[in-house]
Amino acid sequence: MNIAVVGLGFVGLSISSVLASKNYNVVGIDIDNQKCSDIRNGALSLFEPDLENTLRIGLKKKLTISNNFSLIKNCDMIFVTVGTPQTPLGAIELSMIKKATTTIGQIIRKSKKNPIIFIKSTVVPGTAQNVILPILEKKSGKKANRGFGIISNPEFLQESNAIRDTKYPHAIVLGGKQSKYMKKAKMFFSKMHPNVPIVITNFETAEMIKYANNSFLATKISFINQLSNICQKTPGVNVDDIARTIGLDPRIGKLFLNAGPGYGGSCLPKDMKALINFANISGINPTLLNAVEDINSKQLEQIITIAKQQLIDLKSKRITILGTAFKPNTDDIRDSKSIELIKKLLKNKANITIHDPKAIENTKKIFGEKILYATSIADALNKSQCVIIMTHWKQYDTLNNNLIKHMSEKNIIDCRRVLVKKELDAKYYAIGIGKN
Ligand code: UDX
Repeated sequence: MNIAVVGLGFVGLSISSVLASKNYNVVGIDIDNQKCSDIRNGALSLFEPDLENTLRIGLKKKLTISNNFSLIKNCDMIFVTVGTPQTPLGAIELSMIKKATTTIGQIIRKSKKNPIIFIKSTVVPGTAQNVILPILEKKSGKKANRGFGIISNPEFLQESNAIRDTKYPHAIVLGGKQSKYMKKAKMFFSKMHPNVPIVITNFETAEMIKYANNSFLATKISFINQLSNICQKTPGVNVDDIARTIGLDPRIGKLFLNAGPGYGGSCLPKDMKALINFANISGINPTLLNAVEDINSKQLEQIITIAKQQLIDLKSKRITILGTAFKPNTDDIRDSKSIELIKKLLKNKANITIHDPKAIENTKKIFGEKILYATSIADALNKSQCVIIMTHWKQYDTLNNNLIKHMSEKNIIDCRRVLVKKELDAKYYAIGIGKN
């Protein structure tokens, strides 16, 4: 079985590495030649636990990385994992997927293989049927479900857990027409993931499942964030005890109830906006989704309000931000709430020092010399007048009286409640904890 993966971002790289480590012949393709050569050398431009190791195993086995699309012609399966970025109006931008599928179509025209093309990129309902399938048919001169298969196969992996999620997904979704290709795809996935539910449906439903998944997760987060704001105004109330308890109800579930500064990253905010845009175009006013986004966009105000209460005026005050990655165990700062907060604090003329175990280099690309970068927590806190914990890196659990002793004013704003149980010689404010 020869497999191609087109687009070597997070998803593509994780899938190609895992498939190759399981002894499939895999060719990972990306238009960026420099990126391909870095990947071949095992030098990844991103930090993702286990990815480097799995890639190394894959490269030793049967993984080829190339910018040469013609390698697709010998493949039985082609996974399309290119990005679908956001337009200014919130819709998705299809130029990369159109370009990739145009090239795939041209190559399979000359190939004797009848491959299955899996669309893993996140696209709104109707895209496979109305955009991708016509491109593939036109460019290949072959008919879908005869000369090639096309299946919508959304991806649910989380950054920082990419390899684990690729090896052990919670579900496999296969959207498309019932055909010999669908049967073959089902056999392939049931062999790869013997005990994982496989949902077979049509294109549009498969495409919508991805948006339903991410918008539900975003809804859970905005729900707990709004509740946490109410808790904060109610003396003695602790949002974590509430989340833990309601999470025991199997109808609710315990995950994604961690209150904080709002959801960020490259997926949840983008997918929410795309679904809202899609709903509006469909003539549905998505009041709930709009509220979820609205709560998310206002959550940072909570933090700024506390900072202003403590420091009176933010101008020229030294504020330390602990964590700029959009979540722990990644160096990704795309749509990170921390970055947004720093921008707002800079507008208020505050002086900023940041610390992050992995994301300093990426943060520098945004702020350059406008802020200070500390490589240790102690340095980050030195002469600071307020520290704001934004990302729950494990290191921040170690914060204690000794580490904060060189702060010039001891104000702590803990957005992740990592220090809630500690006795600290400081003014301590935690998001979601009502002060007595
Ligand atoms: C998300 C989806 O979880 C994944 O299924 C999809 O394939 C891609 O998008 P990811 O972007 O890696 O994954 O991040 P995720 O772990 O979902 O976190 C998103 C944001 O929500 C982060 O900013 C995180 O800090 C925040 N979050 C998450 C909370 O604030 N509270 C929570 O309880 C969970």
